[in-house]
Amino acid sequence: MKDYILANKRAWEDAYEHSKDSFKDIVRPLRKSPSHFIPLLLQENLDIKDIKNKSIAQLACNNGREILSLGMTFNAKQITGFDLAENMIIAARKSAKELDVKASFYAGNVLDIDASLDASFDTIFVLIGVLFWFESMPDFFATIHRLLKPGGRLYLLEGHPITNMFAFEGEPEYDAIRPFSPAHSYFKATPFIDTDGMTYMSDEAYESPAFVSHVHTLESIIQSLLNQGFSLNMFKEDNTNYLNTFPELDGGNVPLVFLLKATR
Ligand SMILES: C[S@@+](CC[C@H](N)C(=O)[O-])C[C@H]1O[C@@H](n2cnc3c(N)ncnc32)[C@H](O)[C@@H]1O
Repeated sequence: MKDYILANKRAWEDAYEHSKDSFKDIVRPLRKSPSHFIPLLLQENLDIKDIKNKSIAQLACNNGREILSLGMTFNAKQITGFDLAENMIIAARKSAKELDVKASFYAGNVLDIDASLDASFDTIFVLIGVLFWFESMPDFFATIHRLLKPGGRLYLLEGHPITNMFAFEGEPEYDAIRPFSPAHSYFKATPFIDTDGMTYMSDEAYESPAFVSHVHTLESIIQSLLNQGFSLNMFKEDNTNYLNTFPELDGGNVPLVFLLKATR
């Protein structure tokens, strides 16, 4: 495993230790409403036949909340989740058992998923806050390509690369008077190294082991996908603050996320 992935494993496992009870308890909301964790933009653009009676998987699935939600709502045949953080995977398995849902969860680096799982999924989901944990978009989309069956579908809902240009309060580049003026290059080639903690899981800041994240342009994302031979079926931009990083821009005039649908 590369050094930056090992560093992120430490940081994400620590983040899960710091996460609030309401983040960890996915069983109660899923029992009440199976669709609870499906982002609206995804739900509105989902082809139900990509899930119903199909083998579905999520890469970087955290504690399994989104893939369990998708599989339970639309009756998947087989639900699988992969994540780097071992404690998240242990929690995902426990939640699936409590919900009495048949699902498999694997801990490890997505890029190292065993070749025995190649061509075994009808549909793969990559949802919100994943791409920047990978240095190489060609490697990432090559992994999705080998895991999907021929004709299989990819749903990618991700933070819009334009938001990587904004600085957060506390960063040296942050301008309190014009917080959304471009502070970083859109083409930034060096990684971000961040020790502020994952406040979307914990609610409060804490000193974290270093997270290492990589910026990718829209061109690099889409071209890497096309270079694998995927067909792009749909591309949408949206201003909903799904990533929970820019509440002031929610519904405003900046694209905060994009959703794409592609076929192998
Ligand atoms: C922001 S979360 C996105 C998941 C999902 N949208 C959620 O929060 O429910 C990012 C996830 O990526 C995982 N991750 C980071 N690097 C990874 C890697 N190399 N392989 C597998 N998972 C990884 C982290 O452990 C974390 O759970």
